[in-house]
Order: sequence, then C-alpha cells, then structure tokens
Amino acid sequence: MLGVREEIRRFGRTAFVHLREASACPIRPEAGRSDADAGEPEEPSAHPVALRGSAAERSASDVGRRDDGVKDEGLNPTGSFKARGMTTAVSRAKQLGARALAAPTAGNAGGALAAYAAAAGIPAVIVMPADTPAANVMECQAFGAKVVKLNGLISDCGKYVAEHKDREGWYDVSTLKEPYRIEGKKTMGYELWEQFGGKLPDVILYPTGGGVGLIGMCKAFDEMQEMGWIGEERPRMVAVQAEGCAPIVRAWEAHQNSATFFANAATVASGLRVPGPLGDLLILSMLRQTNGTALTVTDDEMLNAGRELASLEGIFAAPEGAATVIATRKLVASGWIKPDETVVLFNTGTGYKYTEAWQLALAQKMEIGKLPVEN
Ligand SMILES: Cc1ncc(COP(=O)(O)O)c(C=O)c1O
Repeated sequence: MLGVREEIRRFGRTAFVHLREASACPIRPEAGRSDADAGEPEEPSAHPVALRGSAAERSASDVGRRDDGVKDEGLNPTGSFKARGMTTAVSRAKQLGARALAAPTAGNAGGALAAYAAAAGIPAVIVMPADTPAANVMECQAFGAKVVKLNGLISDCGKYVAEHKDREGWYDVSTLKEPYRIEGKKTMGYELWEQFGGKLPDVILYPTGGGVGLIGMCKAFDEMQEMGWIGEERPRMVAVQAEGCAPIVRAWEAHQNSATFFANAATVASGLRVPGPLGDLLILSMLRQTNGTALTVTDDEMLNAGRELASLEGIFAAPEGAATVIATRKLVASGWIKPDETVVLFNTGTGYKYTEAWQLALAQKMEIGKLPVEN
C-alpha cells in the first residue's frame, strides 16, 4: 500500500522541459575549454544530454523552432493528465460520502479514476468502448474497478452511466457533469505560469476530445487575472483533433457556436474519439476569446510524429500528444505561429499505454519530417 498511496498523493507536478534547456545539470556545454595558461588539466568536452535537448536542434526545421516546449503529462501517475482531474473529483466525492463512482471513458480517465478510487477505498465502475487500448482495460482491472465494455463509442458509454446511475447508486464522475475534474485540470495552467517564470506562452496546442484540459486551463488564466497575476493577455489556444473525429474543428471552420455529433468517429488516438463533446460551447468560445484556432491531423501523421518524438527527442508519446507536433508544423508553415513566439505542445499521455497504436507506427515507414529513422 505504502508506495502506491504516497505516489498518488504526490502527483501534483509534471515536467516541462524547455527544448533548449539543460538546467541544473552539472555538465556544462562550456566544459572542455582547456585553460593551459593556468595549468588546469583539460576536461573532456561534454554537452548535457537532455531529453528534448540535442535532438531538438536537429529537428528544429521540422517542428518549427527549437524554442518550442513539450509539457509531458505522461509523467503523471497512471500516465496521463487525467490524474489531475480525478484526484480532485475523487477527493470531493469521498468528502460527500459517495459509495460508488462511475464514469464513461475513452481509456485514460478510467485508469485514473480506478487508481484514485482504489486509494480512496471506494468501488469504481468504468464504462468503456470494447476497443479501448488493452493497457487501459488492464489498469482498471488491476486497480480493482468493475469494467463494463460496450460495442460503441464514449457517447454510448455516457448514456449507459446516465441510465444506470440512480438504480445502482453510482456517483457520476463524467466529464463536465461534476465540477471538480476541471478544478484539477486547471493546475496545468498554473504550472505553465510558474514554469515560464510568471508569464504565459504565446500559443498552447492541446489535443482536444472532451475539451476539459483546454477549458480547465482557460479557467486558471481567468482566475490569475482576477488575482492580478496576469493582465488581459492570453495564450492563443489551439484545439488539435483527429481527422477521423473532429466535431470542434468542423464547427470552428463553419463559424458555429456549437458542434454537431461526428458520425462514424474513428482514430487511433482513443482520447480524441469523442464525437459529441459536452463542452462544445465552452471550447469554441475559448478558442474565439483567445484568438485561437482548431485543426485536424490524420492518424498516419500522428503515428509518424510519434516516431519522430521518440527517436529524436526521447519522448514516448501518446498519439494525441504526437498530433500537436504536426499541428505546430502546419501552423508554423502557414505563418499563424510567428518565428519569435513561445509555443507549448501538450503530450497528454504516455505512449506505454498505446501498444496497439505503436505497433502500427513501427510497422510503417516514416513519411514526415526530414530526418531518416533507422530501423
Ligand atoms: C491522452 C489523451 N489526450 C487527450 C485527451 C482529450 O482530453 P480532453 O477530454 O480534455 O479534451 C484524452 C482523453 O481521454 C486523452 O486520454
């Protein structure tokens, strides 16, 4: 018990690694200069080897600029940003005396809920599409949750929870149906401010399914303005979706305030397979308010970008996170992202949970980017 509980409580911060930075590293790039006059022995030349460091320079022309940063949410307990929302939601549910928790999930939220429910000592019911990545199913089972698999999409799972919750006595932890998940997610916004030394980046690219990450960060920025930490300026928020499931992008391109259900949704990025996001009004209004935008990425592009992130940067990303690399390139190429702007790409989950997608990625040739990848 000890290790698990301690780790879960400690989840708070994840690493943001500036591509150019090798901070707090005792090995300095300037090491290696000999000071023969002073009689100092020559040190071997050394460059700090940092994830997202040296390879960033090599891939700068592809990603856009070497100053771009990846905020790696895969480092959270249970391997995704979903832990942030579930710790607050489960804590509040426990306070309110909930006896069983239930949620529909595309995968990662289920794992996070199951873990925090286990730590809280509350039974959990996780309802997921039958083709959810195997690792997500296994983690829920390992955490002791009851797993219900449905032949359908997350929207069908949501209906199942809504239909059963009263009879079964479940406390519904669905996205945007209880308020505390947003409260946890907003910590991403506060962390960015901290990690940028009391400022915010110019552009944030976020893989968007239900939109809670994006909505949570915008809430954090509004709160910061109220507290006088920042002014009216906001990062331009970019919703990145899969071509096979892009209700927000469709609505954005059609200048609509709400999204319509995206029929036949299909993508390897399971977290982006949300055909009818409940937060559509909020997401679209936040994109407008921040002068942001929304765009799609194909599954092939995501898989190739995943290979690039892994082989060039040492980041084993979820396809959702890899999608932001392609989106950045597209926005740099179109001039929407300017050369001197600071950009943050969110890798929302770890690649370790996406064995099926990674099998596909490794089976195909690399088509994007300029650098060869050796097999
Ligand atoms: C890895 C990953 N990225 C992104 C998303 C989409 O998140 P949101 O619902 O906050 O838009 C999910 C949702 O399941 C996810 O698991």
